[in-house]
Amino acid sequence: MALALDVPDRTAAMALVDRFGADFGVMKVGLELFIAEGPALVRDIVAAGSRVFLDLKLHDIPNTVEHAARRAGALGVWLLTLHTQGGADMVAAGARGLREGAAEAGSAAAAQGPEPVALGVTVLTSDAEASPGVLADRAALAREGGCGGLVCAAPDLEVVSAAAPGLLRVVPGIRPTGASAGDQRRVATPAAALAAGADVLVIGRAVTAAPDPQAAAAGIVAEVTAELAGD
Ligand code: C5P
Repeated sequence: MALALDVPDRTAAMALVDRFGADFGVMKVGLELFIAEGPALVRDIVAAGSRVFLDLKLHDIPNTVEHAARRAGALGVWLLTLHTQGGADMVAAGARGLREGAAEAGSAAAAQGPEPVALGVTVLTSDAEASPGVLADRAALAREGGCGGLVCAAPDLEVVSAAAPGLLRVVPGIRPTGASAGDQRRVATPAAALAAGADVLVIGRAVTAAPDPQAAAAGIVAEVTAELAGD
C-alpha cells in the first residue's frame, strides 16, 4: 500500500512517515509536497526506510522528461509517474531516464533499493468517465514504452490488464465503505480493488483526513489482510 503524503510541508510529511511507514511501506510524494520541499525530503524518506512513489505525472517533450526522470532515478525513488498522454516517445524517454539515473547514480539509496519502475498514468480517477478505447491505447503505449506499471482506477483494471498484461497495477481512488469520495469519481473499497487485480493501493484522505487516522489505517490494513488471506 502507498500512503499519499498530500500535505504542505516536511513536518507534516515526516509525521505521517513515522506514524504509518511500517503499515504502508510506500510513501507517495506528489506535486504539492515536492514543490514545497524538493529532493531533500525524498532522500530523507528513503533514508527512513520507506520506498518512495514520486507522483509528478511528467508530461513534457521527451528530452525534458528523460532528464527529469534521470534525476528521480538518482534520488532512489521506486515509482515515478509519466503521463501517457505525452505519447510513446515521451514515455519511452522517461522510462529510460529513470532506469539510467538509478544505474548511474551509484548512490546508496539507488544501489540498495529495488529496481525503479516507471508508471504510466492512464486516465485520472477524478475523471467521471474513461472510454475503454482510450484506456486500452494508453495502457498499451505505456507497456511498449518500457513502463513497468500503470496507474488506473479500479473500474478500469479489466480493460487495462487485458491491453497491457504483466504490469504492476497501482490503483488510487480507494475509499473504505462509508468514506467520502471527495473529488474522486471512480472509487473502490480496498477489498474490491484487490479483488479486481490491484497490486498497489494508493490511500490518501481516507487515512490522512480521517477523524482518527490511526484507526482508519488499522481498518484498511485489516480489510486488505483479510482480502489477501481469501476471507
Ligand atoms: O486522497 P485520495 O485517496 O483521493 O488521494 C489519491 C492520490 O492519488 C492523490 O495524491 C492523487 O494525486 C493520486 N492519483 C489519483 N489518480 C491518478 C493518479 C494519482 O488520484 N490517476
